[in-house]
Amino acid sequence: MGRKISPEEQSWCLDKVTGKVVISKGLENICIDKSTICYIDGFHSKLYYRGYSIEDLAKNSTYEETVYLILYGKLPTRRELNDFSGWMREERDIPREVIELLAKIPRDIEPMEMLRTAVSYLGNLDPGRHDMSLEGVIRKTIRLISKMPTIIAYWYRIRDGKEIVCPDPRLNHAENFLYMMHGGKPEQILARAMDVSFILYAEHEMNASAFTAVVIASTLSDYYSAIVGAIGALRGPLHGYANVEAMKQFDEIGSPENVDKWYREYILTGRKRVMGAGHRVYKTYDPRAKIFREYAREFAERYGGKVKTYYQIADRLEEYVMKQLCETRNICTNCDFWSGIVYYAMGIPVDLYCAVFAAARTVGWSAHVIEYVTENRILRPRLYYDGEIDREYIPIENR
Ligand SMILES: CC(C)(COP(=O)(O)OP(=O)(O)OC[C@H]1O[C@@H](n2cnc3c(N)ncnc32)[C@H](O)[C@@H]1OP(=O)(O)O)[C@@H](O)C(=O)NCCC(=O)NCCS
Repeated sequence: MGRKISPEEQSWCLDKVTGKVVISKGLENICIDKSTICYIDGFHSKLYYRGYSIEDLAKNSTYEETVYLILYGKLPTRRELNDFSGWMREERDIPREVIELLAKIPRDIEPMEMLRTAVSYLGNLDPGRHDMSLEGVIRKTIRLISKMPTIIAYWYRIRDGKEIVCPDPRLNHAENFLYMMHGGKPEQILARAMDVSFILYAEHEMNASAFTAVVIASTLSDYYSAIVGAIGALRGPLHGYANVEAMKQFDEIGSPENVDKWYREYILTGRKRVMGAGHRVYKTYDPRAKIFREYAREFAERYGGKVKTYYQIADRLEEYVMKQLCETRNICTNCDFWSGIVYYAMGIPVDLYCAVFAAARTVGWSAHVIEYVTENRILRPRLYYDGEIDREYIPIENR
């Protein structure tokens, strides 16, 4: 027999005042560092990047400008923005080796698994992959955020047996992504919605994927490992993949008339969660959801058909969530509830939505890596040991 180790012997787990064991399951409300990148006020539906409100950025900015803002902490002058956008455009092409890799990857894997592999391989091909200086990480960030949409579009076309469409340097980041996906210049309203979606998904403080990136970087590992890890974390349905799961949920519901039955059968009984609802930080409506929702409404009216059906199902389901979960338990719809309908209107296949999110979020991950390693300390939490120690080792023949 061993013995159970007492809380007093694990003094680092005890609250200094009450003497009780403190476990921060899920690291809720634990601040791991100071930051000047992003502020979320989850009680008043507010989100700021470098002090600028998300509403202001979604209305007035572009993804290129927002990337600059997030990375450098200030809005660029016209000249700085031109140079920066030019840099991003120059970085869009992907090496031939990566195109060959995309052709070899099994076609039935999830796009996030493909992205993880392709980003890792891009890292292998970068001679400056171990350079963790500020300039080195910014260079790699621009390299990745410019190439990730190309990887996604090429993958989509390769797996569908279509010719790839090379990037067009005359188009901005969002227009070019839609152009590479579909092979034609996108409608302006769709390109602008894609641009805004990249802005909305660009950054979101110390969430699970950003934390993963920072944990990896804090060991003084390399930039590509940090981003590959973050892609892995984002892929979970509780995080970035929720935008894919929300669409599957709308498909399962099938029509607005079925919402009531579905809600009773699955949500009221606790058999399922509403995908695209609830948030660790937002205890009111997610401000990004409001912007995505407005685009979804506009596109439902404009394009009708399945876009409209998705919108009507989501609209009805949201009523239930807001009345029954938000009012009583602060579980409100979030951005992933609505973003998929916007992407659907753009003709993007549902399984790619989380990858599109990752392509945008890479800038936020990178900014956190840069900020954290500037005054680095290895991230190393503890666990409260709840097992036995000093157990007698019994030889295998006597067990
Ligand atoms: C985002 C999320 C993971 C946050 O998790 P969290 O802060 O750890 O909250 P918990 O998982 O502890 O949930 C707290 C309670 O709310 C309930 N809840 C949370 N999200 C819910 C949802 N979407 N639908 C129904 N109930 C939900 C949980 O069942 C739990 O209930 P209980 O206390 O009766 O057990 C969670 O809200 C969720 O799973 N949402 C769906 C996935 C999603 O949209 N993710 C994208 C986030 S941007």
